[in-house]
Amino acid sequence: MEPLYEGKAKRLWATDDPGVLRMEFKNDATAFNGEKKAQFEEKGRLNNAISNRIYALLEKEGIRTHFVREIDETNVEVRKVEIIMVEVIVRNLAAGSFCKRTGVEEGRAFSAPVIEFSIKSDELGDPLVNDDYIRELRLATPEELQHLRTAALKVNDLLSDFFSRCGLRLVDFKLEFGRLKDEPGTIVLADEISPDGCRLWDLETGEKMDKDRFRRDLGGVMEAYREVLARVERATGG
Ligand code: TMP
Ligand code: ASP
Repeated sequence: MEPLYEGKAKRLWATDDPGVLRMEFKNDATAFNGEKKAQFEEKGRLNNAISNRIYALLEKEGIRTHFVREIDETNVEVRKVEIIMVEVIVRNLAAGSFCKRTGVEEGRAFSAPVIEFSIKSDELGDPLVNDDYIRELRLATPEELQHLRTAALKVNDLLSDFFSRCGLRLVDFKLEFGRLKDEPGTIVLADEISPDGCRLWDLETGEKMDKDRFRRDLGGVMEAYREVLARVERATGG
């Protein structure tokens, strides 16, 4: 059997239910739009476990997501969606490309969350775009974009609070959304939420607990992911 889709960190497989797919987390890690590559034996398992717990929590708080149920250590059932080709990034503190673009020092806290959009395209290097680009490229309607913005801010509030209970500062993160195939007009949170697509800093030590350990060759990548999972499990009751 062939996957329906293979991305850098996940594969999507058909199931018997046409409205449901199996999403498999791979052990591959990439950075800088796939330029830097490595394999981490446990990454699929850790990200699947972290992401599923977070999606279950968001669902409980009224955020609609693609999550259906965890199948096993590296597989989850998700609703079939048409991915909106816009990555939604929310920032609470300056880091990463924000610092590179502006010269601001890493760690400056913002007075309010910064939202940015980029086109989901490795070939183009995920370019930063604004609302007008998104409208003219027909990536999303203005109404859909408003929904993405509102949902992203709500996710930020919920997750900032959740991760602080884990002793972690949610510095920034990336979300992807999709249009439900069997429920036209409904947009849900898709993809994953894991240390691959979030910056998480230990609240006490400031230590980086996310994919920046890989991007910057800091070592201890899986140790950090394992620690994030342990804290997420504790905060969600095992
Ligand atoms: P950035 O500072 O590199 O723009 O990244 C902001 C956040 O978004 C960071 O937590 C990592 C995440 N991200 C992804 O998950 N995928 C991507 O392709 C990019 C560019 C960022
Ligand atoms: N997710 C992107 C990649 O895999 C960028 C990044 O996370 O640094 O290349």
